Amino acid sequence: MDQIVIHGGRRLVGEIPISGAKNAALPLMAASLLTGETLRLSNVPHLADITTMARLLAQHGVSLHMNGDAEKGSGGGVLEMRAETISSFVAPYDLVRKMRASVLVLGPLAARVGEAKVSLPGGCAIGTRPVDLHLHGLEMLGAEIRLEEGYVHALAPKGLVGAKVVFPKVSVGATENLLMAACLAKGETQLLNAAREPEVADLGECLVKMGAQIEGLGTDRITVQGVDSLHGAEHSVVPDRIETGTYAMAAAITGGELELIGGRADHLSAVIEVLHEAGISVKETPRGLKVKRVSGPVKGVDVMTEPYPGFPTDLQAQIMALMSTADGAAMITESIFENRFMHVPELTRMGANVNVHGASAMVRGQQRLTGAEVMATDLRASVSLVLAGLAAEGETVLNRVYHLDRGYEHLEQKLAACGADIVRRRSQE
Ligand code: UD1
Repeated sequence: MDQIVIHGGRRLVGEIPISGAKNAALPLMAASLLTGETLRLSNVPHLADITTMARLLAQHGVSLHMNGDAEKGSGGGVLEMRAETISSFVAPYDLVRKMRASVLVLGPLAARVGEAKVSLPGGCAIGTRPVDLHLHGLEMLGAEIRLEEGYVHALAPKGLVGAKVVFPKVSVGATENLLMAACLAKGETQLLNAAREPEVADLGECLVKMGAQIEGLGTDRITVQGVDSLHGAEHSVVPDRIETGTYAMAAAITGGELELIGGRADHLSAVIEVLHEAGISVKETPRGLKVKRVSGPVKGVDVMTEPYPGFPTDLQAQIMALMSTADGAAMITESIFENRFMHVPELTRMGANVNVHGASAMVRGQQRLTGAEVMATDLRASVSLVLAGLAAEGETVLNRVYHLDRGYEHLEQKLAACGADIVRRRSQE
């Protein structure tokens, strides 16, 4: 398996192009199932998860065409999808087990053809992550849900019917699934306590371009008037706020200065607030954001993850790496996922001082981190080890790089272009 090898201690200076958001592109791709016409997405990142979703859609009968050069550092691809006929309503275990977001085909398939059978995603490295909210919501829209041999079977032979769905907990995926399903349901659907994440709003904006009638995007109360059919559209995927936040922390942890091209401050308010408190300057520029450590060491700041517009759980591991080098202590509390501290033992091996008590981690900043051989456990955990490696003295070798490839496009190239000593060691297998 590939490894990433970093020699730390270099200040990062330069520009990094921000890719389209993986977490927006995946539901947008699933939305192609809602129409027989072509959906054309631009700014699609080249990532393993995008390939997995493309495979899944292809086996449902979607014809896909991707333009764009995977070797180029930016620009993203243009992905055309056409689901003229749905040849299979089954999402098989083999593909779903690779990526939990596969469950996003459930709502569109049930809405378009009245039937969907999707393998249960099962447990995953960051907690149990059930899909009960997705299923309960679809039931509210009139689908019959059966659990059969590890599969969720949703049946709505007469079509879905609009309803009031109150989510007991904020869920990005369940909001997206229900939003897509509601577009083709009869009558009005209200989604209450809906997720407000920019990726949900991006999906909603694309659905509106496809002919959907939606109000309240970006709020926790979304109203959809169902229509008989949707049509083709073109849409550019929103820039990745998590990638932007990650590279902002790369500038901070190396005492550098990076301009993040395409990065959007309005999607990162809570993160920018924390960075300011920590002594990092983040300023908007005509092309994106400029991030710079103002002077002296990073200051310790307490952080709690929350649904948007709060501090994102997908940046928790990265802020922990930054706080490991801070002057002072930081209490980091994870309120979205259980068991999302798997990066802690690995950061500790690099000299970080972190004590976990339940959902909180006390991080006592250290003057220096030291390179080590470490193991990636999930997508965001692995990039936190890259950040620590950039700041550490000596060599860091990161194993299980495939986690990174699921979510960071051209990571080594982007960092190396700004002065990082980082290479991928390809496996001989
Ligand atoms: C999405 C993101 C992921 C991010 C997460 C939270 C994608 C592809 N992934 O994941 O990167 O970390 O939002 O911002 O967009 N829950 C239930 N029942 C359900 C669904 C969720 O209890 O049916 C719980 C989860 O276990 C978790 C919380 O709700 O504790 C939030 O999860 P959710 O927002 O659904 O995350 P995902 O959509 O899976």
